[in-house]
Amino acid sequence: MTEKRKTERQSFAPGALTAPLPPVLVTVGDMDEANIITIAWTGILATIPPKTYISVRPTRHSYKMLKERGEFVINLPSASLAKQVDYAGIYTGAKVDKFEKCGFTKVDSKELEAPTIAECPIALECSITDILPMGSHDVFLADIVSVSCREDILEDGRICYDKADLLAYAHGEYFALGEKLGKFGFSTDKQKSAKPEPKREEGKRGDEKKPEGNKRSEKTALEKPAHPNDSPKKKPHRGQANPPMPKAKKRGKRPFGKVEKSSIRRGK
Ligand SMILES: Cc1cc2nc3c(=O)[nH]c(=O)nc-3n(C[C@H](O)[C@H](O)[C@H](O)COP(=O)(O)O)c2cc1C
Repeated sequence: MTEKRKTERQSFAPGALTAPLPPVLVTVGDMDEANIITIAWTGILATIPPKTYISVRPTRHSYKMLKERGEFVINLPSASLAKQVDYAGIYTGAKVDKFEKCGFTKVDSKELEAPTIAECPIALECSITDILPMGSHDVFLADIVSVSCREDILEDGRICYDKADLLAYAHGEYFALGEKLGKFGFSTDKQKSAKPEPKREEGKRGDEKKPEGNKRSEKTALEKPAHPNDSPKKKPHRGQANPPMPKAKKRGKRPFGKVEKSSIRRGK
């Protein structure tokens, strides 16, 4: 029998400890009556069709609203909105108007009745397809039916994540994102000819004024394709990190309503 290798690592009981996670502000309801719930149990399930999920405890005030409405908006907050994110994850919409308390502005979503939060740089409009019980939480699977962003974070038709300055969450603590380290595919030699990214001044983040000087090299770097395959000759491929945003097609309004029982898959 082989002996177990000695390790310096410490083991813990099983726990939900992946990090960093996006602590998102999920809006549900309509322009007249809407609620916000902070959700960290979220992510992407598929690229085509674009599928996401949120895991929600049935005890949340938002849970019933989500079930009834069949739709929600995932609003991605900037680091500057950390306090509002925390607040929306502590207080219940059954007792307070979180839009008012957080000082948020409701704007019409493109496809849904649930409002988008104007202050959030990026928003994903989601239509619920299934609800899966998963122990403490129920998972709301959803199609992403539209994406919007604030105009100030767009650059050449691409969402510029530097400018979005998104908030991260890791096991009970909030963080701002650090320095950009590279782009999708930067480990391949295709990227060798590309000029290095302009170095950020310590402590500076995307929404702050860029350091003076070396404006030429900064401009050149910003004009570089976002991906090694994203040159005028080559078509961008599916896996590229941040392709130019496709133009939104007009989508007929869907009669959103209660999620039908038949579409609610019960676990084994
Ligand atoms: C950072 C953070 C992440 C959270 N993530 C979740 C989550 O993924 N699922 C969930 O059910 N509750 C989560 N919560 C708790 C709810 O946001 C919280 O209970 C909220 O007050 C419920 O609001 P509601 O009663 O208006 O629906 C989180 C709270 C915080 C602060």
